[in-house]
Amino acid sequence: MSLYAMFKGKGPSGFGYASSAEDVTAGLSLTGKTILITGCNSGLGFEAMRVLAMRGAHIIGAARTAEKATAAGKQVTGKVTGVACELSDPKSVRACVETVKGLGVKLDVIIANAGIMALPKLKQAFGYELQFFTNHIGHFILVTGLLDTLSDDARVVVLSSAAHLGAPKGGIEFDNLSGERGYKPWAAYGQSKFANILFAKELAKRLAGTGKTANALHPGVIPTKLSRNMGMPPIVESLIFGGIGGALFMKNVGQGAATECYVAVNPKVAGVTGAYFADCNIKAPRADANDPALAAKLWEVSEKIVAGLPA
Ligand SMILES: NC(=O)c1ccc[n+]([C@@H]2O[C@H](COP(=O)([O-])OP(=O)(O)OC[C@H]3O[C@@H](n4cnc5c(N)ncnc54)[C@H](OP(=O)(O)O)[C@@H]3O)[C@@H](O)[C@H]2O)c1
Repeated sequence: MSLYAMFKGKGPSGFGYASSAEDVTAGLSLTGKTILITGCNSGLGFEAMRVLAMRGAHIIGAARTAEKATAAGKQVTGKVTGVACELSDPKSVRACVETVKGLGVKLDVIIANAGIMALPKLKQAFGYELQFFTNHIGHFILVTGLLDTLSDDARVVVLSSAAHLGAPKGGIEFDNLSGERGYKPWAAYGQSKFANILFAKELAKRLAGTGKTANALHPGVIPTKLSRNMGMPPIVESLIFGGIGGALFMKNVGQGAATECYVAVNPKVAGVTGAYFADCNIKAPRADANDPALAAKLWEVSEKIVAGLPA
């Protein structure tokens, strides 16, 4: 546990910064539940898979390839079905939707967990900035493709980040989704994470009255492999994300996976929808991330983007 974690208290939920995924699921039986998690082979996704499978859930673990997903699943105790889902490739995401539908199960939870962060140079997929495409559009295709398979009280949980605070003015640069009119690594990551919040909010609105919910969250700052694409010299990376940073102010991976597991399965979150969580408690995101018109616009633009992608 980091030094910072020792001084952080709990919130109204009874959990807080230092709570772990095991803490927030203690005593719960998830037998009979089916949970899809993207990015199951690394970091927070792997830890969430491990803990939720240990509590009895059938995990559909998604990774870029079926081999990666299956290999990750073999490392945990419980029932895991590995599926391929390369989020930057719509064909792969659509195939994943069909594979999951083919399993003939109802999904109780989807955790849209996978992500990439702060790529130093502009990269694109299908003409769109890669973080926006991977973190938002990939999950948009996956989740909207699976809406029919959700159980009556299903929860959609979208991993955002406090980095959404660094999104450009207005949240989403609709006139620069390619990144070609200006690219800043953290602003682009922030925009993709801002999009994750807007997506959860608009989905919550669309699911209103159905019993199904959608929420977004910030997991904390955790030394996972998320920094791998930032192009930092290894020594700097290990100083910030390893020894000093980890010891002073970061969460460990168990604590980092707590909020997604809490929002995914804890009974205290039943019926809560359209919210943003951090440290296992509801928190206010940046004010404009609460703008329903902006959320509706992103949904509409996302649908148009998806419609224009190769079949
Ligand atoms: N760690 C933090 O401090 C922190 C803070 C705020 C928010 N978050 C969010 O938490 C989530 C999990 O991150 P993490 O910290 O666990 O990072 P991580 O260890 O790097 O895990 C990220 C996962 O996403 C997968 N992924 C990346 N690009 C993908 C793609 N195109 N298609 C399919 N899967 C892809 C990775 O697969 P590969 O291993 O194959 O690349 C990996 O499984 C992310 O959404 C991140 O934005 C993390």
